[in-house]
Amino acid sequence: MIKVLGISGSLRRGSYNTALLRAATKLMPEDASLEVASIRGIPLYDGDVEAQGIPAAVTQLKEAIVAAAGVLLVTPEYNNSIPGVFKNTIDWLSRPPADIRRVFGGRRFAIIGASPGAWGTVLSQNAWLSVMRTLGTQTWFGGRLMIARAGGVFDESGTLKDATVEEHLRQFLAGYVAFLRTPAT
Ligand SMILES: Cc1cc2nc3c(=O)[nH]c(=O)nc-3n(C[C@H](O)[C@H](O)[C@H](O)COP(=O)(O)O)c2cc1C
Repeated sequence: MIKVLGISGSLRRGSYNTALLRAATKLMPEDASLEVASIRGIPLYDGDVEAQGIPAAVTQLKEAIVAAAGVLLVTPEYNNSIPGVFKNTIDWLSRPPADIRRVFGGRRFAIIGASPGAWGTVLSQNAWLSVMRTLGTQTWFGGRLMIARAGGVFDESGTLKDATVEEHLRQFLAGYVAFLRTPAT
């Protein structure tokens, strides 16, 4: 069984990105599972807090990443870049630096996102690339998924209602999991 950890970068109850992640859990290929993790409870990064020890919520998320074959980042876009709350989470997960290799090194990430705008998080997804490179991940580029005009893609309860997007998401996940099944380089 291939285990993927999915992290939505939004805290909003009605988040399109969390809805997208929920939809993805139901569209995983056979012999693969997608566990949903949350950024809720991760404090603002503060070196003085770190000096007292890594917060439990951070350690818990780090160990969930280590236990997964791959990590799916589901990112909103704020001001054409990564939302601060999501970047803050990854910044915490990269502490202490001596642990970066264990948590991120060679780990197989993929990035998707949803936005009510016309460009579907393309610039936010691009902004993640330098972060992924810096942390030494092996990010999958075999597919792209940018959900534009998300308001028409999900219903009021956050259920994916667009059949074309659903098929695109299914194909993205199939490609990503096929990548996760190949031996690590
Ligand atoms: C501070 C801020 C900046 C935003 N900037 C962008 C942007 O650059 N591009 C975009 O497509 N949407 C932008 N949005 C709209 C978000 O895509 C929208 O709020 C979306 O619903 C956030 O994701 P969520 O539904 O998962 O919470 C912005 C929203 C906020 C709050």
